[in-house]
Amino acid sequence: MVVRITGTGSCLPEKRMDNFEIARMVDTTDEWIQSRTGIKARHIAQEETAVFLAVTAANRALEDAGIPAEEIDLIIVSTLSSEQMLPCTACSVQEGIHAKNAAAFDLNAACSGFIVAFQMAVGQMEAGLSKNALIIGVECLSNILNWKDRGTCILFGDGAGAAVISARSGERKPEIPMVLHSDGSRGGVLTCRNLFGKSREENPDGYVAMDGREIYKFAVRKVPEVVEEILEKAGSSAQEIDYFLLHQANRRIIQSIAKHIGQPEEKFPMNMMENGNMSSASIPVLLDEINKEGKLKRGMKLVVAGFGAGLTWGGFYLEW
Ligand code: COA
Repeated sequence: MVVRITGTGSCLPEKRMDNFEIARMVDTTDEWIQSRTGIKARHIAQEETAVFLAVTAANRALEDAGIPAEEIDLIIVSTLSSEQMLPCTACSVQEGIHAKNAAAFDLNAACSGFIVAFQMAVGQMEAGLSKNALIIGVECLSNILNWKDRGTCILFGDGAGAAVISARSGERKPEIPMVLHSDGSRGGVLTCRNLFGKSREENPDGYVAMDGREIYKFAVRKVPEVVEEILEKAGSSAQEIDYFLLHQANRRIIQSIAKHIGQPEEKFPMNMMENGNMSSASIPVLLDEINKEGKLKRGMKLVVAGFGAGLTWGGFYLEW
């Protein structure tokens, strides 16, 4: 069986909020945000819902893959910030794109969510339960940000990215090298404990809260480790990889990882400058951007890796 990503799509909200606009809400500056994170602007949903962003990204990915929605048999949506709990966002996407033959469910693994969705879809394919899957990362993080907290509100953005994954029988290729890790004992460094039935005023824990330094240290230590693990499983070396697609939390984190791995920064595409950190949407949006820019050629070798709340981290190796 050969598993490939056959199409990508994305959708960002219309409203672009730059650092200067944020500096009118909290005590910060464009210079501080850019120098610490690389972020200049982010998109913020106003009229758009998570379902709308996900449906639009999904339709674009289907068009890119050139397959009708009826051929999709699995839809996995990764989200932690959709406006709806029930029905799950994936079922609303199924309705929105008319994928009547698909099973659909959501998962939440925070910023590692797209990695987990990919691995779940490949697992279903390897079990013979899916041939064409649609995986989506969508976030409306602006729903859960405290716009008075300069430590968090400067970092995040809203958006959706989607990919169609297809399994074709034929030459048996080695399994896709994938790794996944969690450490729940360190969950307290990035939280949003949204207590049902209470207003935000009654429940200040209902906003994203973060120990930024701890997350920074976690990311620069664990991501290089996970990349090494993936390369070892793939029997490949960092030199052979064309692109490392990493979760877009912070430019300094990615630069530090590139240095650790000993590879040039050009191999690490980045889009947090214009999009901020879109959690589970950041990797699929980046994938769609470089795909549409024509940077991905058949046979190219990619390592895709994410990290985030939970704590969770993981990744996979893929030939385009
Ligand atoms: N504007 C201006 N000053 C700010 C600020 C802001 N937006 N946010 C914090 N500060 C201040 C702090 O209050 C602190 O002031 P003090 O020294 O007087 O107490 C100072 O800047 C330094 O704060 P610190 O938290 O040490 O900054 P930092 O260099 O670690 O950068 C982050 C902060 C959040 C940018 C950085 O820790 C980071 O990127 N962490 C990873 C976060 C992340 O990626 N989360 C998502 C993971 S999926």
